[in-house]
Amino acid sequence: MRERRRLLPLQGGGREGVDRRESGLNARLLTHSDAAALGGLRLRGLLEHPLDFGADHDEEAAWSVTEWARRMMGTLWFGVERGGALIACASLRIPERVKLRHNGWINAMYVAAEAQGSGAGDAIMDAIEAEARARGVTLLKLYARENNSRACAFYRRRGFEAYGVEPDATVVGGVGYGALEMAKRL
Ligand SMILES: CC(C)(COP(=O)(O)OP(=O)(O)OC[C@H]1O[C@@H](n2cnc3c(N)ncnc32)[C@H](O)[C@@H]1OP(=O)(O)O)[C@@H](O)C(=O)NCCC(=O)NCCS
Repeated sequence: MRERRRLLPLQGGGREGVDRRESGLNARLLTHSDAAALGGLRLRGLLEHPLDFGADHDEEAAWSVTEWARRMMGTLWFGVERGGALIACASLRIPERVKLRHNGWINAMYVAAEAQGSGAGDAIMDAIEAEARARGVTLLKLYARENNSRACAFYRRRGFEAYGVEPDATVVGGVGYGALEMAKRL
């Protein structure tokens, strides 16, 4: 049976007193029926920003839509649509184990180039935070490449603080890249 789509209200977020979000942004939890659109957007992100994701474009380009739908299982995927097109995505993984399930791991955050600065990032982060709170998560965690100044600025504005650096978190073309470990208490 197809999972029913849930619409998540756009609320809060943005700088205090300033809401830079364009109208017409629809942030929601994605379902298996979004696998093709999600895979397409994700491949764009991996191609445009090869240093900023742990995943590799060529690896994921080989996945079928069915494989994509399978890989979505066990992780919550979020998206933002504008005019019916998916323009942003991100995932949230909540461990099942009792001592770990207060953590929510955010991954795969990508806003399409033409939508960056539109508030789509805030919309998806609001949706993630609301869902994480509802599921009992008290701490959100993520990694960002140390020199990804735009992403680090975005996460800091959203209340994330760096608590460490993982050396050589990824190796791309033989070069190691450190990742800023960031967390936000909900
Ligand atoms: C990171 C990302 C999700 C943020 O979404 P966004 O729509 O671009 O975010 P915003 O425009 O709301 O915020 C970005 C902030 O960085 C600032 N910024 C823009 N370009 C910058 C740069 N080159 N260096 C530093 N800061 C920069 C913006 O002014 C803004 O700060 P402000 O809110 O204080 O004005 C998006 O840029 C993206 O998908 N990037 C490519 C993939 C990526 O790096 N993903 C993150 C993986 S951890």
